[in-house]
Amino acid sequence: MDILYREHDALRAQLAAARRLCELFETAEPLTHEVQRAWPDARTTLQELHSCLSITLPLHHRNEELSLYPRLLAANLSRPERTLIKEIAAEHAGLELLTGVLLDVITPWLRVSIPPRHVELPRFVGLVSELSLHLERHIAIEDQCILPLAATMLTAAQLDEVAAEIKKRTEPGRKPSRKPAAK
Ligand SMILES: [Fe+2]
Ligand SMILES: [Fe+2]
Repeated sequence: MDILYREHDALRAQLAAARRLCELFETAEPLTHEVQRAWPDARTTLQELHSCLSITLPLHHRNEELSLYPRLLAANLSRPERTLIKEIAAEHAGLELLTGVLLDVITPWLRVSIPPRHVELPRFVGLVSELSLHLERHIAIEDQCILPLAATMLTAAQLDEVAAEIKKRTEPGRKPSRKPAAK
């Protein structure tokens, strides 16, 4: 399950970077030199956050929904364990709704080279705070309960299958050879 722990760490790092951006937006006066000087780096952070929320997070959810949760639900779980998995799986839709709203805020900012208007910043700060709360809690439950459960309840062969499927989904074009593909 190392691959899913690593994906969780990467998601936490993106959230932390987004919160640092919130601190900049909250402490600096609008369009001051400080924000303008920091904007190129802030925009890079926003581009990474955009990529994470639009590509990495949905793919991570699909990895769990297609490869992990079904195998766990087919294992000999207790009723509370089964309920927990279903509840956690159901949270993905809500998280993606929230990230959709945040993406709507971020996307126009990536098309311009100047910082957003100050009036738009509190919305970003509020959404990042809400997403951090829900996504970090979700990930913590998976790290502390669901991935350890998988390590106990799934066979070594099943765990290998989960990892192989995730790798294939995450790196679909990856070839074992370094030779360029024939045209
Ligand atoms: Fe999840
Ligand atoms: Fe997860």
